[in-house]
Amino acid sequence: MSDAASQCTKIESEKTRDKEVSWALLPYVEQNTILPEFYERKRTFHFAGHSIEIEQDWQNLGVAGVVWDAAIVLCRYLEEGKINVRGKAIMELGAGSGIVGILAALLGGRVTITEREVAMPYLSSVVNANMENKPDIKAVTMVQQLDWEKDLDKYDETFDVILGADVIYIEDVFPALLKTLEKLSDKRTEIYISCRIRYERDRRFLQMLKDKFIVSKVYVDIDKDVRIYKAIKR
Ligand SMILES: C[S@@+](CC[C@H](N)C(=O)[O-])C[C@H]1O[C@@H](n2cnc3c(N)ncnc32)[C@H](O)[C@@H]1O
Repeated sequence: MSDAASQCTKIESEKTRDKEVSWALLPYVEQNTILPEFYERKRTFHFAGHSIEIEQDWQNLGVAGVVWDAAIVLCRYLEEGKINVRGKAIMELGAGSGIVGILAALLGGRVTITEREVAMPYLSSVVNANMENKPDIKAVTMVQQLDWEKDLDKYDETFDVILGADVIYIEDVFPALLKTLEKLSDKRTEIYISCRIRYERDRRFLQMLKDKFIVSKVYVDIDKDVRIYKAIKR
């Protein structure tokens, strides 16, 4: 059995035993998915003149504890000024380390950075560490729990911009993710989802999205194999 196949078997048994654990740690493992960078305890990124430091915790938090390529590509897109964030109400979904939301805040957005309960202490500590000497930015940045399956009824407002990096991967959660996008948006909301299409199911989510939103592919990073989709409510 290849390494990837044995990992998949492990995931399946974890999934049967404890759905939450499998989702938190290893929802997909394929050749090249576990990058050497995931084992780096600290990574420093430079975008738009800002330096963002991310502590990583792959061992304990899995997918939520590292920076994915989709986040890096979305940060570059933000850096290039392709999304108007200044003064806007921004929501980041499935933020993981929060790097995208942190950059959006540094670029002048009023950002709500969200995650599932299990990743909240990690996310808060990364955001706080990057805003230590930036009280004005910290004052307009919120870190909040939003599990698409459990917490949506706590949210009533809509946002100007919704950002999601590498959030399309668990098919069971697709309906909840779609509902979340619908609830948090209105017709003027710009939604940007950056992702690598790994499986047929990822395409199925895009199809579900197209039923409710006008979706266009606005950016492709060929080297990283990451696409950014923009969605506007129909
Ligand atoms: C592949 S990681 C991407 C993390 C980060 N956005 C990045 O690109 O570096 C997917 C993220 O989605 C989050 N996630 C998965 N299911 C979720 C749910 N039901 N509600 C909220 N977030 C969820 C995970 O906790 C994880 O942080």
